[in-house]
Amino acid sequence: MRLQNKHIVVGITGGIAAYKSASLVRLLIKEGAEVQVVMTPAAKEFITPLTLATLSQHAVVSDFFDRRDGSWHSHVTLGTWPDLMIIAPATASTIGKMAHGIADNILVTTYLAMRAPVLIAPAMDLDMWSHPTTARNLEILAQDGVAQALPAEGFLASGLTGRGRMQEPEEILEQAVAMLTATTEKLPLAGECVTITAGPTYEPIDDVRFIGNHSSGLMGISLAEALACQGAEVHLVLGPTHLRPTNPHIVVHPVMTAEEMLAAAQETFGRSSIAIFAAAVADYRPEERVSGKIKKERRGGERMQLTLTQNPDIAATLGAQRRAGQYLVGFALETSVDTSAAEGKLHNKHLDAIVLNSTSDAGAGFGVPTNKVLILDKAGARCDLPLESKAVVAEQIVDFVLKHRTQLV
Ligand code: PMT
Repeated sequence: MRLQNKHIVVGITGGIAAYKSASLVRLLIKEGAEVQVVMTPAAKEFITPLTLATLSQHAVVSDFFDRRDGSWHSHVTLGTWPDLMIIAPATASTIGKMAHGIADNILVTTYLAMRAPVLIAPAMDLDMWSHPTTARNLEILAQDGVAQALPAEGFLASGLTGRGRMQEPEEILEQAVAMLTATTEKLPLAGECVTITAGPTYEPIDDVRFIGNHSSGLMGISLAEALACQGAEVHLVLGPTHLRPTNPHIVVHPVMTAEEMLAAAQETFGRSSIAIFAAAVADYRPEERVSGKIKKERRGGERMQLTLTQNPDIAATLGAQRRAGQYLVGFALETSVDTSAAEGKLHNKHLDAIVLNSTSDAGAGFGVPTNKVLILDKAGARCDLPLESKAVVAEQIVDFVLKHRTQLV
């Protein structure tokens, strides 16, 4: 199964070759892909949404909103979900709309929101195919570098006059496989597994209250996105936050407490070549979790005491279990740029590098969309980064890891 875990949007437009899209969807699913079909209104004249929904096991999207309950189909979500979009057949009309950004149906709107590569299989009659406007529109798409068009002359090689005919589903499948393997194989972290901890932990006092902190999870999520972009299979162990990554190669393991975070991180740590501990883990938890809600009267008086017990240190626990070839990165959140405290954590937790951020730097640390960090490694390298968005900081941390882990080998 060459397309295992791949997400593919198949766009179908209104041409006679639309009937072949059913075979294409079947072939993609046979190779392990998850397929979401998006149709133009005209495509429904050639093949029923029911056939495609049955084959793909997903309701077909063909309108901006669902007529039954009025809910919106988000072209933005459709644009971030897949690894590849295939438009087959792509009529002259749809190619023209794509080239000029005429987003008057959900398929072209999805194309304009698409972050993944796009493969189009044109299909039209010979006159339309030969028209200079069609050629120019295909040229615009090629120049934009967003869509790759298959030659619409599948039968020419066999001597038949078939110019303009859509390539066979088997040929489209092979091109899709080639595009998807080409994009992941050449990336530096292709085939590697990474574990990241991120966000806060909530340590329950009773059923409605907890001890927590202001971490939003954004720094760790940004690292997950940056590592997934380098081809890694990323496991993100994420404390309570409403934020989520968008890259489909990131597996989120939602947790609440430090103990749950350690258990989830243990699951993938052993097979990870890189682990990054960006979570703000509570060092202590209430010794007792009261069931229900603690009543003011029950505890009595103006003072109430909570007894806390130490939580496991996730970075230190996993650092002690590390094996050769793993590269471990911790974070240190300090109230000043205190390199000796950060270096202490680097050594005590058996890490290779530590990312120091300080609450004394404006725009750094918790809850803000930016960060300012100093990376230190155990060989003495220092990398002082300016204030940037957490996405940019994450990319720079990943660059540091890629450079310095090879130097260790
Ligand atoms: O989530 P954001 O709002 O984007 O904010 C990002 C951040 C400020 C949370 C992040 O950049 C950060 O600094 N994370 C580490 C915060 C922290 O708890 O630092 P620390 O110095 O207390 O811990 C040192 C290291 O040990 C960290 O890698 C931490 O994840 C780890 N640790 C700490 C305690 C514990 N019980 N288990 C741990 O794994």
